[in-house]
Parts: sequence; C-alpha cells; structure tokens
Amino acid sequence: MGYPLPEEARLKGPFQPMRFEATVEECIVTHGEIPKDLAGGFYRVGPTWKRPTSQGTNGLLGMDGMVQGLVLRDGRADFRNRWVRTPKYLLEEQHERGMFEWTDGDWHDWRTYGYGDVKRDRWTTGVPQGTNNINVFPFAGEMVASSEQGGAPIALDPITLETKGIVNWSPKLSPGIHEPAAYGDATFTAHPKWDHETGVLYGWAYRDTAPYVTVHVVHPDGGVESRELWDAPYNSVAHDIWLTQDWMVMPFQPFLIDKQRITKQETSVFGWDPDLPIVLALIPRHDMTAPVRYITTDLEPQYIMHTLSANVTGNLLTLDGPIFNRPPFPLEQDFAAGDDVALFFSIARSHLGRWTVDLTTGKATAEQLSDRPSELPKVDERFYGRGYTFGYQVGGEIKRGGMRMNSLVVTDMTTLADQEFVIRTDQPAAVLEATFAPRHKDSPEGDGYIIVPVSWWAEKRGEYQIFDTHDITKGPICRIELPFMMGWTPHGHWMDFR
Ligand SMILES: [Fe+2]
Repeated sequence: MGYPLPEEARLKGPFQPMRFEATVEECIVTHGEIPKDLAGGFYRVGPTWKRPTSQGTNGLLGMDGMVQGLVLRDGRADFRNRWVRTPKYLLEEQHERGMFEWTDGDWHDWRTYGYGDVKRDRWTTGVPQGTNNINVFPFAGEMVASSEQGGAPIALDPITLETKGIVNWSPKLSPGIHEPAAYGDATFTAHPKWDHETGVLYGWAYRDTAPYVTVHVVHPDGGVESRELWDAPYNSVAHDIWLTQDWMVMPFQPFLIDKQRITKQETSVFGWDPDLPIVLALIPRHDMTAPVRYITTDLEPQYIMHTLSANVTGNLLTLDGPIFNRPPFPLEQDFAAGDDVALFFSIARSHLGRWTVDLTTGKATAEQLSDRPSELPKVDERFYGRGYTFGYQVGGEIKRGGMRMNSLVVTDMTTLADQEFVIRTDQPAAVLEATFAPRHKDSPEGDGYIIVPVSWWAEKRGEYQIFDTHDITKGPICRIELPFMMGWTPHGHWMDFR
C-alpha cells in the first residue's frame, strides 16, 4: 500500500530514503578517467526507511539496511544497490507491512533510536531484529554487513549484492543488548579491524550488563576465539577500537548504553556521564588467555567515536582519531521530550587528536592536532595493526555548536602536514566518508586512490570522486555520476579484486 513519508528530520535533506534498487552498468564518467589498474568494489550501507511501523515512526537503527556497491575494473564502473534481506526484512516483505515495534518506538522524537527490545508478538517471535545498516566490510571473500550491535552479520555477494544469509560463524558469536530471538542470532561490531596478511578479523559485542564486552577473533575458516571482559569498567558504547601489533585497544568512554533507561527513565537508550573516567583496555590479540591491562586515565571528558590508527614507539602508545567535546547525539542534558532528532554533527564538533599513553607509567595525555573540524577517519586498511603514517578524513568548518562537512583531508600523521580539497562550497551536499584503495596490490602504505561519495541531494544526483594520493589538492582525477540521489550511508569499505 502507499503511505506518506513521515515529517521527521531523519528523513529529510541528505537523509531522504533511497527506496529503490538500481543497477547502472558502465556509469557515466563526467570528468577524467577511471584508473585502469583499479580493480575492486567500494561498498557502503545505510539505514533506509522502507515503510512506516505501526508505531508511526522509525528509529534510525531500526530501519532496514540498503547496501550500495560500485565495482571498478578495466576502467569502467558498475553501480548497484540492494536491500539487505535480513529475517526482519523478509518477514515484512511477505506481509507488506511494518511488523516490528520497539520499546523506544512510541516517542516521536530524538529518543527513538529503534534500539530498545522488540515487543514480541506471534508474528515476530523467533525472528531476529537485526537490520545490518551501519557498515559493510570484506571478510573471507564476501562482503559482510553489520549494524550497531543489533543483529548477526550478513554475507553479501560482492558483485550482485545478493544477500547470501547470516554468516555461518554467527552461532559462535555472543548476544549484544538483546536476547537472541533464534539459534544463531548474535551480534557483531560495526567497526571490526583485520590483519591483511592473515585475514583474521578482530571484533566484539557489547551490552549493558556484565560482562559488558565479549571479544571475538574470527578466522577465515569460520573458527572463532572468544573472551569475555569480566573486568570491563562499565557499560560503554564500544563503537570502535585501535589495533596494534599486540593488542586490541578498546576505549571505555562514558557514552553509555542501558535498556533500562528506556523503560524506567523514559529516555533514550544512550546516556553521557562525564564523571566516569576514560579507561583503555589493552587486550592481547594473539593470546586470548593473557591478562587484559586496564589503564584508568585522568583525561578530561571527551569522546572518540571513530579511530584512525595507532603507533607504538618505545614505551609510547599513540592512539589517533577525531576527538569530540561530547558524543554527537542528542542527550537528555540538552533535549526535552518532544524535541525533533538532532543529527550527528549538528550538535558536537571534533578535531583531529591524539591520546598518548606511557606504557611504563600508564599516564595518558590528550592533544588536539588541528584547528579544522573533521571526522569519518579512514586509513590504508592493509596496514591495520602495523603502525601507519597516513590518515584520511572528511574536513569541515564550524557551524553553530557543531560542524558542516565539506572537504577531503589527507594528513601525514608523523609530521602533521596535511592536504585539503574543498568538495562542497555553497551547494547543498553531503560529503560522505572517504575510502582508500591501493594503486597496486603491493603499493606502499598510502599510495593509491581515495574514493569519496558525494550526495548532491538537492539536485537528486549522486557522485563518486576519485583522488590520486600523490596530490589531492588538484581535485578529483575522475568523477563518476549516478543519475539519482544516493541514499545516506554512514560507513563502508573497499574489497580488492587483484
Ligand atoms: Fe561508526
């Protein structure tokens, strides 16, 4: 049946849903040429509104995942986008109506994330609530879509984007904040890291009761090693980590998750308690029985949502990433019942920063490395866990209490010299997360291309801009056009076919 698009900020501007599946073969190139030596796929996924729920509103995390893939080879580009056909999606498709309701779905305001428990009925009992809408990453020859701890990872065909199903290693994973609805219903982080040489994947699940985190090391053959962090300090939203040669470094920051906040306090599942200390857990990655070192810092309240990478030099561990003054989500401290959702970078600002940890004394310090607001950090992922030099981010400018994103920034993290190219000036556009692709399979770190998705949403068109890392200030060497507005996507990754 037909229905109107709800009048909500999360469905407007760049967040207008891309509710159709498209195939564009041999995409139009409006500028330059696609490098002929580039062979692989660039994939992204995002929460996409399909139809209203019976609660009348749809929290961002409860919306179905839509995956986009741009496959490049022999100088041509083919675009596809497809719904991620989760058990939830398939049930609702069969009945042609929204069938899931959430404990945080009755508010029509900023508190509705679609991330409370599902109110189970005879239709939804036994059906996982996962929506696989936050990130998509390569693993063992497949692309895997995952969400913010909402459900089991789902494998996708890298060419057709067809949903192959829940990964066969899911029964070895652990639950997040929701009770499993069926056998194999588990959860997995949206921001795993991996070892390019071994193919081993480093992930975890988090929850609001102890053990707050379970670490999962997944091998390409589907074997999973797990450890529960019984000594984890509190119920942090464990969104991202750093990987070093020896450790998974997980920051416990006072951005909290607690389902009881929904039912007992009638507020959002997420909270911010800056009185709690930032604690760093150094989790040995090669020995799941070796002790975890917890470093309780006296860092001022601040928040790293996404990481760049880390270096270990002598007894100093440097952890890089954009540092926010506070989580970029509406909080009960400054929003009241009935207020519309405030999206991401409109209420908080981040700058490139670094936490330096003295591994001898356990003393940690923080520094801001740039005056330019920036976020959506990425690196050359072949070097995850091996130290790094080059960081990529989307840069911006100050806008009221937050920031407006408009540029691509490449930073040499050893000298802090940076290059910037401003992609957006006055036109309405969303400059989305950039991703690095190597020039050749064995190119040195940072030698290659950076692909930036740009949604020119007011003109109802999309674009991929490809930059050469030799000099991004000259602008894109190639622009690939999509003849429609690309939907909003938070994250994605490159899979190399070479
Ligand atoms: Fe993220």
